[in-house]
Amino acid sequence: MTVVDGSGAAGFAADVAVAGGRIAAVERGLAGEAAEVVEGAGRVLAPGFIDVHTHDDRAALDAAASFPKVSQGVTTVVVGNCGVSLAPSPLRDGNEVIAPINLLGKAADFAYPRFADYRRWVEETPGPVNVAALVGHMTLRARTMDRMERPATAAEIEAMRADLAEALEAGALGLSTGLAYPPSRFAPTSEIVALARDVAAAGRLFTTHMRDEAGGVVASVAETISIARQSGVRTLISHHKCCGEGNFGLSATTLAMIAEARETLSIDLDLYPYTASSTVLMERTVKESRKVTLAWSDSHPDMAGRDLAEIAAEWGCDVITALERLRPGGAVYHQMDENDLVRILTFPPSLVGSDGLPHDKRPHPRLWGTFPRVLGHYVRERGDLSLEQAVAKMTGQTAKVLGLAERGLVKPGHHADLVLFDPDTVIDRATYDDPEEPAAGIDMVLVNGAVTYEKGTMTENRPGRFLAS
Ligand code: ZN
Ligand code: CU
Repeated sequence: MTVVDGSGAAGFAADVAVAGGRIAAVERGLAGEAAEVVEGAGRVLAPGFIDVHTHDDRAALDAAASFPKVSQGVTTVVVGNCGVSLAPSPLRDGNEVIAPINLLGKAADFAYPRFADYRRWVEETPGPVNVAALVGHMTLRARTMDRMERPATAAEIEAMRADLAEALEAGALGLSTGLAYPPSRFAPTSEIVALARDVAAAGRLFTTHMRDEAGGVVASVAETISIARQSGVRTLISHHKCCGEGNFGLSATTLAMIAEARETLSIDLDLYPYTASSTVLMERTVKESRKVTLAWSDSHPDMAGRDLAEIAAEWGCDVITALERLRPGGAVYHQMDENDLVRILTFPPSLVGSDGLPHDKRPHPRLWGTFPRVLGHYVRERGDLSLEQAVAKMTGQTAKVLGLAERGLVKPGHHADLVLFDPDTVIDRATYDDPEEPAAGIDMVLVNGAVTYEKGTMTENRPGRFLAS
């Protein structure tokens, strides 16, 4: 068995012993000695994958909804991304759940008045994965402001700071933003800086789905760098990409900016390995896309999986009218270029995260295939990066950026979050046409020393923990 330990160092032959939920030993010839020895001839043992970007706030606690992640070798998910978190509850009296907060569930699902209530829920009803949780800026805006198409007032910023303080006190990983979405778009940079300063003071992380990932992507990276500089906050750019044909190639500029900023600031980034994105129905995103497939629609559930242009043709209207009729809903948007994807994936600091949407009727395949796709397609088939580099982007490098102690490496004393896979066959099988297929080549997954997945099946174990900062 080859151990790829998550540090980026070359793989080496060894056995790994697990005891008391931790890695007890990593050396040759351990068989028979320790409590439990993980073995697999011709296999690779790596740290369990840390999905740095998810919307699994609810799914992580539901074993069936976690199957797409567990079957890929994921052992920890970061929830609360893109400005959208389940807690603290974004509902104001009688209000319905606005888009894109509705990606996480219906009104009844927002049952956690404070962030600490969500943490308690995770601890009392553990699932098969560990959970680290961000608090969403849009969620805080929704619970604070009567109308979101404007900057927050000084009093509203104070109210959001109080909610943020409660969340940080309760162990939140940090704050996320989704500045591209209408409910957050009107937040000026100064509003973000005011909150980011508190995150920096607590030593936590700021993640951002930037204001514009298309024509304005360079300006958005500049804004993000400015937020990091003004507040001193450790920053993670979410799902970095360049959308829309006219903007292909801009990643050469954005990565150069990030590389330069990294000389003085803490700025990292993540991506998913696909050239289509997915989110709620948005006119702007439709216009930036070459093809749009409906992922879900509450008003027309039977249309999920259909092409938006075809629906419009069938209805005898234009695509924007069709989109309005299909709301509330979400879609898969084909809008990126493979060259940008590979450039971002091979940029040494980038991390891998799925951005999967677990409640969509016809989800983007990234929910089921992200990690095996990097290992099978980009490492083995294309040779864009080494297996060791790819694993580090899913484990050791990720744990470092997130500040997750004693996770992300195969190392004695670390928590036993592990994945055993076949480097010759590991591959995603979920496609745009058939998105709910488990990956191939994942043999076994352990979380805190307990087996969660073996021989293609999820076990009964629910060893996931809340990873408090
Ligand atoms: Zn996002
Ligand atoms: Cu996201």
